Amino acid sequence: MLRGGLVAFPTETVYGLGANAFDAEAVQRIFAAKGRPFNDPLIVHVASEDEVGMVAADFPAEARRLAEAFWPGPLTLLLPRHPALPAEVTAGLDTVAVRVPRHPVALGLLRACGFPLAAPSANRFGHTSPTTAEHVQEDLEGLVDVILDAGSTPVGIESTVLDLQTTPAVILRPGGVTREQLQAVIGTVAYAAPAERLAASPGRQPRHYAPRAELVLIAGSSPADIAAHMSQQAQQLASAGRVVGLLAASEVCQQLLAPPVPLFDLGSQDDALGIARRLFLGLRTLEGAPVDVILAHLVPPHGLGLAINDRLQRAARPTD
Ligand code: TXA
Ligand code: MG
Repeated sequence: MLRGGLVAFPTETVYGLGANAFDAEAVQRIFAAKGRPFNDPLIVHVASEDEVGMVAADFPAEARRLAEAFWPGPLTLLLPRHPALPAEVTAGLDTVAVRVPRHPVALGLLRACGFPLAAPSANRFGHTSPTTAEHVQEDLEGLVDVILDAGSTPVGIESTVLDLQTTPAVILRPGGVTREQLQAVIGTVAYAAPAERLAASPGRQPRHYAPRAELVLIAGSSPADIAAHMSQQAQQLASAGRVVGLLAASEVCQQLLAPPVPLFDLGSQDDALGIARRLFLGLRTLEGAPVDVILAHLVPPHGLGLAINDRLQRAARPTD
């Protein structure tokens, strides 16, 4: 890292692809390795609240309260950018996205380096985020100097990105810290509709987190109803020659009559953290099965369900 290298490391959310945030060339290498457009800004990881001043020009009281409540943890705050930070990191924007990760390996790495690490998720641009070191290897073999392997990441879904420049604050990307948790600390927090989010985060593509197989979301009023629609769709697609896989909560899996196709059980729909942990693994497992269509369904839209549904909806959008 001191010589401008790239290190993939575990965080509590997903694996990150890190470089010294103050080394513009190393930061450019991140974009090249991921195939990421230069107009999509990176998250800067710091070891503690005390280091925020290295990358942000201001750390307002509201942001400090959130940092005290949720750091280290899966919350990314947009703050005014420090003029010394290379423009590549923030894609020329005047805000910087900052967080303190909760994973001991990430914290150990940050402390050992002594400088902030710019790190996006360690996947090829647009692909499903990596929750294991093997996922990083699948996407970035040969493009990264070191991969620190600490097994599966405990949260499994990326951090919440919160814009504090507006009143009320706006969630640009739902993630590991829920809207309800944020509201308990700072009051009303808005959740931007996908169209607004695209405008606020330049470079965010509508289709993202996408497996290489097509993802189709199946609606239904109950697990039994979803299971019935899934079975019907699966049969229709199979008779049209498509290779189908199913990704569903246990309650739905239990209602499927002798599933004829690869099935990935996400766990109970009442255990949103369990689903968040297994979601990206499920998408990658089915795409590697390999299948060419994955049928999945949304979960109740509260708590972590907001982030789970966001990833499913964005992975399911047709390429445009
Ligand atoms: O959990 C996570 O956040 C993981 C781990 C590695 O920390 N990182 C991650 O980074 O998901 P990435 O680059 O895949 O996603 C960062 C998101 C992008 O959607 C980006 O557009 C947005 O944050 N972002 C970064 N800086 C921003 C800024 N200044 N203004 C608006 N959006 C920003
Ligand atoms: Mg990403």
